[in-house]
Amino acid sequence: MQANLDWLNKNHATLVKDLADLVAVRSVSTDGEHQKEVEQSAELTREQMRHAGLQKTEILRCNGSNPYAYGEWLDAPGKPTVFLYAHHDVQPVHQADVDAGRWHSDPWKLTARDGRLFARGSADDKAAITAQLGAIASFLQTRGSLPVNVKMLVEGEEEVGSSNLMGFFQQYRDKIKSDVIVVCDTENIEVGLPSITYSLRGIVTLKVEVESATKPVHSGMAGGVLADAALALNVILAKLYWDNGPLPIPHYYDSVRPLTAKEKKTFRSLPGSEEKWREDLGILPGVRFATEKRGHPYDQTWRKPAVTIIAQEASSIKGASNQVLPRAQALVSCRIVPNQDPQQVFDQVRDYLGADPPWGVKVKIEPHGSFVKWWMTDPNGPAFEAARAAMKASFGRDAVAIGCGGSIGFVGPLADLLGGAPALLLGIEDPQSNAHAPDESLHEGDWRKLMASLSHLFENLGNLPAGKVK
Ligand code: BES
Ligand code: MN
Repeated sequence: MQANLDWLNKNHATLVKDLADLVAVRSVSTDGEHQKEVEQSAELTREQMRHAGLQKTEILRCNGSNPYAYGEWLDAPGKPTVFLYAHHDVQPVHQADVDAGRWHSDPWKLTARDGRLFARGSADDKAAITAQLGAIASFLQTRGSLPVNVKMLVEGEEEVGSSNLMGFFQQYRDKIKSDVIVVCDTENIEVGLPSITYSLRGIVTLKVEVESATKPVHSGMAGGVLADAALALNVILAKLYWDNGPLPIPHYYDSVRPLTAKEKKTFRSLPGSEEKWREDLGILPGVRFATEKRGHPYDQTWRKPAVTIIAQEASSIKGASNQVLPRAQALVSCRIVPNQDPQQVFDQVRDYLGADPPWGVKVKIEPHGSFVKWWMTDPNGPAFEAARAAMKASFGRDAVAIGCGGSIGFVGPLADLLGGAPALLLGIEDPQSNAHAPDESLHEGDWRKLMASLSHLFENLGNLPAGKVK
């Protein structure tokens, strides 16, 4: 292992350069306007895979999906096969944020500042590509072999809900067969504290459209007579507000799996304080948390459903005139938790929002994008022990088991497809990473420790008796 760690240290500048090359490609998947760059980032990922020593590298696709980069190394007979997952697509950079100076350096140029590496995609999730390849290369470039078999898949449409995932699994069922899954796309709960994520929330998004008339009408003539669609939409959305109580949607919590007493206790023993959360989330003075009474931010973000209005349109302020608007729409994004059923959540929210519309306006509610399931596992057994030992060796601290309020569409369905294969979600982001936001960054020190952890992990998995990972 010392040879691996020496190799990682000696080649650190090259690994930073590899990451810089990746973030320079604007592989935004959310707007459909960067397809060329999404292709380029898949190709560059494939090139870096080949360079690290992976074999049979290729670009895979399924139906009209964005390109996946794939590479493997399968010369360790009798040893477990590790499936490495990451994504090469990123969230957009909004020009308004750039104009307002919210990015303190070029979002597409990896920039070192205060021990962190800034760029869109630096933490989410391009650093995972480099970290996984660094660990692979630390074996292949020193001893010429890996202690386990490796299949590495880097997706290009994670940020838009991985909608081709089931088709992909059908098409490549045999190719992706593996024993254990390793994902680096979640958080360490604080810098320097290695964290293994054992639950993810899912997502159900609804588009709510309100219509009251066939055309906008001068508000001098129609104001007070014609039902205002923008106001009606907001009356409908306001039904989701319930101060510091649970969401008022009937039966919404019936299938929510309660936290065990042990989980509650553990969550409260993890680092975090009101002051720090306020700072990390940028909450303004005087604004209260929206948590339920006696709720804890970790209970709330990891294991409770949440509903967020992620977009609303009626007309723009620029060019607005005195009209009663006949049409307004919003996207309502529901984070779902164990054991909520996505279709049932959709039905419940649709029925609740669609009932008794103000002034009898027409309300149309449809799914927006594909549903993403939640995922949860028991973080115990040989593979998890191998991960804990690997992280302890690199971070010098015991790993903690945490939840995640975000979603990664691939994890649950893949673990199911592989017959309940253990899925190890090792942290790469941290509370200061600003994923999806301006000034996204990666903690360079933790990134190095993650690479060392992955090297240890491969070694530990290779040493499991009879290759049994569970
Ligand atoms: N890396 C995130 C998941 C994540 C979120 C980890 C928060 C840690 C904290 C991932 O890339 C992501 O953003 N996923 C999307 C998926 C969605 C489009 C289905 C999400 O959670 O919004
Ligand atoms: Mn991600």
